[in-house]
Amino acid sequence: MTDDRPAPADSHGTAWWRRAVVYQVYPRSFADSNGDGIGDLPGLLSRLDYLASLGVDAVWVSPFYRSPQDDNGYDISDYQDVDPVFGTLADVDALIAGLHDRGMKLILDVVLNHTSDAHPWFTESRSSKDSPKRDWYWWRPARDGLPPGSPGAEPTNWRSFFSPSAWQLDEATGEYYLHLFSVRQPDLNWENPEVRGALYAMLRWWLDRGVDGFRMDVINMVSKRLPLRDGPPLPGGDGYGDGWASFISGPRIHEFLRELHAEVITGRDGTGRDGTLLTVGEMPGVSLQDAAAFTDPASAEVDMVFQFEHVELDRDPSDRLAARPLKLTSLKASLARWQAGLAAAGWNSLYFGNHDQPRAVSRYGSADPAYREASAKLLATVLHLHRGTPYVYQGEELGMTNYPFASADEVADIESRHYYQQAVSSGQDPAQALAALRRRSRDNARTPMQWDASPHAGFTTGTPWLPVNPNYTGINAAAQADDPDSVLSYYRRLIALRHDLPVVAAGDFTLLLPGDERIWAFTRRLGTTELLVVANLSDGPAGAAIPGSGDWAAAELLLSNYPPPADATFVLRAWEARVYRHSGRAQPPVG
Ligand code: NOJ
Repeated sequence: MTDDRPAPADSHGTAWWRRAVVYQVYPRSFADSNGDGIGDLPGLLSRLDYLASLGVDAVWVSPFYRSPQDDNGYDISDYQDVDPVFGTLADVDALIAGLHDRGMKLILDVVLNHTSDAHPWFTESRSSKDSPKRDWYWWRPARDGLPPGSPGAEPTNWRSFFSPSAWQLDEATGEYYLHLFSVRQPDLNWENPEVRGALYAMLRWWLDRGVDGFRMDVINMVSKRLPLRDGPPLPGGDGYGDGWASFISGPRIHEFLRELHAEVITGRDGTGRDGTLLTVGEMPGVSLQDAAAFTDPASAEVDMVFQFEHVELDRDPSDRLAARPLKLTSLKASLARWQAGLAAAGWNSLYFGNHDQPRAVSRYGSADPAYREASAKLLATVLHLHRGTPYVYQGEELGMTNYPFASADEVADIESRHYYQQAVSSGQDPAQALAALRRRSRDNARTPMQWDASPHAGFTTGTPWLPVNPNYTGINAAAQADDPDSVLSYYRRLIALRHDLPVVAAGDFTLLLPGDERIWAFTRRLGTTELLVVANLSDGPAGAAIPGSGDWAAAELLLSNYPPPADATFVLRAWEARVYRHSGRAQPPVG
């Protein structure tokens, strides 16, 4: 591959990903080439021109490795092969070449905190207490004084994300293994240097194959606080506790990530290409302070993190999928806090959607379908005009919505199914539990990509593994491709804006009107260029009391999701977003 972007001397100051937009593909739901109802790599390959026409710089592909698919591929049984359902290694080579030919990069999704229970490492580890790989996973005896398998005998009281206990008894040796996620996803023991060495070798093997970086799954969970201890009891009275404090950003996390960077990333091509790779760590519960340390180029750990603060604001902390009302003031304050916190060093990733989150337009946009398109464009405007690297989740660029699940049987996701069973068995009204799934289930994001108005939205000629959203005849890529007013065309303009204007990528950020519950407004400044972003997140007109509004009204209107306003006021129409530019602004006084 030839990288036409110059490798800068100060790679972190101008690294490509600082002005990039990344597109996430969930391969299972993107495009199916062979009619088995499951998306695959040849399907993705057939859609590369679509991605190129969007203008994105890199594509992050969720796991396609060999896997029993207990968690749709986040349970890996062979890191160095492709699951037959998705294709072959030759398809990955073709994907790398196809992306590079079109000037895009490939970011692999690597799951380093756990493997599948079908991984040969785990098969070996569980075979006996004396196995040379016994210590590659977390094995513990039953709690003192209790026979293995008896109630409460688990080594700690932690609840798993996808099943009641985070511990599973293995009858063969009478010990328990730790699985923070499903019983089929045993946690690797990063305290063992052989484990880390094997993972680093695997990552280098992929770089040798030509990939351009990694999205690291729940990477802030790899360092556990020793000894493993009970956590505070969780609500629900079922005896489970919250192990969070024992595995989120544990004591060796910075050391591990620095080591990974040194062993895998540093000096990869020896020709100044260092800094052309991208690493993004998925980090549930990460604090801003820790994120600053993780992403400060001086610490050489990861380039950016996926933090969760803003996507937790509308979630009831005591109930994974239950809702609490979201205030616009909280959402914009949260993003602004991260803008400020990572301004001096470090870097933000910017996202509203991914394969674990409900559809952004259903969650943050208007409930009135008349404003679906306007709100999809507004949300994109606001997000992409923040400082950081924006991520577009497949279908977001079409304004795809949540799925109208009519019954819990339509949900395939392991987390959602577990949630529903637990809620109903603990006495919750099934209708209420179903309402939570409709709002929050990860399957909202996983219904097939809507390509056109033909059967199954052009995703497959077979039966799709998850139903296609019935709104596909109206919302699909073909209908939007040549329509200059479509959400898709708007995304193209927005992505081009970031490439064209250095202020979008690098400018300082200042939040305006923090107390306004309808208007989201901020400025960006770089040198003598200043942008004003102003958006109305409500179903009716709303006035924005922008400081210096007369001056701004005379500025150049760079981008908007509505025709230009008829007058010079800042009364915005329902779900209207505008981006203004002032050039040649006097520099603010120094000091
Ligand atoms: C985070 C991934 O995004 C999610 O899809 C997965 O279920 C868990 N990690 C476990 O790997």
